[in-house]
Amino acid sequence: MKQGISLIVNGEARTVDVEPTELLLDVLREKLGVKGPKFACDTGTCGACTVLLNGKSVRSCMILAVEVDGQEIMTVEGFSRNELTPLQESFVEHSSFQCGFCASGMTMVAVELLNKNPDPTKEEVKEAISGNLCRCTGYHSIVQGILGAARKIT
Ligand code: FES
Ligand code: FES
Repeated sequence: MKQGISLIVNGEARTVDVEPTELLLDVLREKLGVKGPKFACDTGTCGACTVLLNGKSVRSCMILAVEVDGQEIMTVEGFSRNELTPLQESFVEHSSFQCGFCASGMTMVAVELLNKNPDPTKEEVKEAISGNLCRCTGYHSIVQGILGAARKIT
């Protein structure tokens, strides 16, 4: 039986009816039109579906929507403004992505890292993104993008 839940998604209060078995990823993408988090492995291994739940990165394909009733979700759309953020600028400057499929999830773990630690070492950046797969870049350009963002904000 469907149940109504309330979420704050990218700063906006949203209500939606969900089945008890529906994944947060599916609710975001299919019911709320928030397509930044990507559907890929569906087994919690690739990180493409990563969002911030109350500021902490989680895999939205591993969480039921009903579990997060009343909580705050941020996706890559939450950073849409007229101007690029320092992280987005740095990703562009370092040509961090190729196909871009991993970019949303990588952005969310990078934001989480930089919020906690605005001046990370290369090893700390590698550790932060170690759970997110990228099939295109070999990761160097992504690491450089995050380090470049840290230089901009410190
Ligand atoms: S789609 Fe969620 S971790 Fe891969
Ligand atoms: S840029 Fe293609 S998967 Fe990362």
